[in-house]
Amino acid sequence: SSSSSSVAPLLGFAAIATTRTDTITVPAGYSATAFVPWGTPLTGNLPAYKDDASNSGADQEQQVGTHHDGIHFYPIDAKTTGNNSNEGLLVMNHEYFDPNLIHTNGVTLGATRPTDEVRKEIAAHGVSVIHIRQNGSQWEVVSSSPFNRRITGATPMDIRGPAAGSSLLATKYSPNGTSTRGTLNNCGMGSTPWNTYLTAEENWAGYFVNKDAAQPREHSAYGVPSSNGRYYWELAESGSDEYVRFDASTKGDSALEDYRNEPNTFGWMVEIDPFDPEGRPQKRTALGRFGHEGVIFAPAVEGQPVVCYSGDDSTNEYIYKFVSAEPYYKATAGGWLLNSGTLYVAKFNSDGTGEWLPLDITNANFIAKAATAGVSFANQADVLVNTRLAADVMGATPMDRPEWGAVHPDTGEVYFTLTNNTGRTQTDAANPRANNATGHIIRWRENANGTSFNWDIFLLGGDVGTTTGEGTAAVALTAENHFASPDGLWIDQRGVLWIQTDMSGSQQSAGPFGNNQMLAADPVTKETKRFLVGPTDCEITGITATPDLKTLFINIQHPGDRSTPTNFTSNWPEGGSARPRSATVIITKNDGGVIGA
Ligand code: FEO
Ligand code: CA
Ligand code: CA
Ligand code: CA
Repeated sequence: SSSSSSVAPLLGFAAIATTRTDTITVPAGYSATAFVPWGTPLTGNLPAYKDDASNSGADQEQQVGTHHDGIHFYPIDAKTTGNNSNEGLLVMNHEYFDPNLIHTNGVTLGATRPTDEVRKEIAAHGVSVIHIRQNGSQWEVVSSSPFNRRITGATPMDIRGPAAGSSLLATKYSPNGTSTRGTLNNCGMGSTPWNTYLTAEENWAGYFVNKDAAQPREHSAYGVPSSNGRYYWELAESGSDEYVRFDASTKGDSALEDYRNEPNTFGWMVEIDPFDPEGRPQKRTALGRFGHEGVIFAPAVEGQPVVCYSGDDSTNEYIYKFVSAEPYYKATAGGWLLNSGTLYVAKFNSDGTGEWLPLDITNANFIAKAATAGVSFANQADVLVNTRLAADVMGATPMDRPEWGAVHPDTGEVYFTLTNNTGRTQTDAANPRANNATGHIIRWRENANGTSFNWDIFLLGGDVGTTTGEGTAAVALTAENHFASPDGLWIDQRGVLWIQTDMSGSQQSAGPFGNNQMLAADPVTKETKRFLVGPTDCEITGITATPDLKTLFINIQHPGDRSTPTNFTSNWPEGGSARPRSATVIITKNDGGVIGA
């Protein structure tokens, strides 16, 4: 319980100092062990990882991907009692890759790309499902498990919800607009009340190119490049459709002859059932199309709609809420609940109230606002494909890059990180600082009507002395907890708010904060302590635990990301002169106790 009348303090560990060492630092009494790094053999013929990065595309398809991000532990008995803390399915995202580290000699961008390099890069993305169990005190991969699975940027997936079947999603691959290949730039995640995994498609737009003189709004509003894809995948030497599809320029006479609509099949939340290894991932279009950071579900209530929240992590974009049309019943709940409902966008008023504005083509207010703005939508599929535009029309509050959210399991209070926004010039109450380089955390409580809320700022990031609130409520950061660029966020079963940072390279090397870090906070008292500092040039992202809270899993993404192919700025986790590798970290308390207590 997070009650302020608790006898034992919520945070029982001694805060650690900032550091720039190339290792994981945790408080006294804790241990941290790297686990399932990039390239760990997972499926098929279990190809061994090669430290010179010479593994092939086919190898990568059977190995753990890179740039570990959102992560969730499903107890092996999740579908029944759900209390197994010794065996389960660890499911995680692989957001992107470092061009200088993924191949022996790095990536050479030019007229064409060697096909197997592109195949490997696509396979390094996506999701891993990893069956793990404890053998004594050590966690190990169950290497023969049928649950082990790689989902990549090439895996066939279904499109579901209101945009499925729309002409805006019709491609040569799927003329009826109901399927696509792959998920990309999977950042944060969400776990549904029915124990499936939602993976978020965040900065997917850059993987495509559309060279047409005028891009359609569903491309331009998301930043689809006009000269080349970020990695020139569209120019893989083989010329196969599986790579040509990244070029969304108009080529044929109709959308069924080319891939002009391929980018419209990205930008969604994708549902994966880790307990169904043959199941096709489902893109859930009712949750909107934007730069999804992740999604967080409110505790499910029998007979009530399912409610979840998702941030669009781009400068001056928005926070969204989805409310299902159908009520939740534990016995029958499933992904179909995410196929119909209302998507809302948040407006934060200066008086501490807020409103949820419906993006609904049948809503009179939406129709009126769209008419006033001179924007037309053909149908709800058009609204959802163009979620950013629909939210603009409604007058939502532009935020300082919404990243992860967390919901308190007891109070239902919602917390969201706003990582930074150095471009902000016009401030508002919810984004109160111009040139917001260090970010903040906002929170709200829903009103009973479901369409309004009350909010406040939980914590402003910054150097020692940065103060949030006024008078007796004022809380100032200290050497035990100063931080910047909050990103990952989670509230554990005890009510501890875990905060992970994603400072840029220069913010880490030049600022007062050291390497990226993870803090633990008491949501009631705002007591905050630094719990972990990561290795050089990484971000800390993704967090989950066993039900007994005695094993904590976090991810270390892109250690050494300022490396060249011949000069590594980090050698984590192996040390010595090893190539840096993204990896999970297992954290345990040496006395076998609860993490953070
Ligand atoms: Fe992939 Fe917004 O972090
Ligand atoms: Ca993130
Ligand atoms: Ca980030
Ligand atoms: Ca990242």
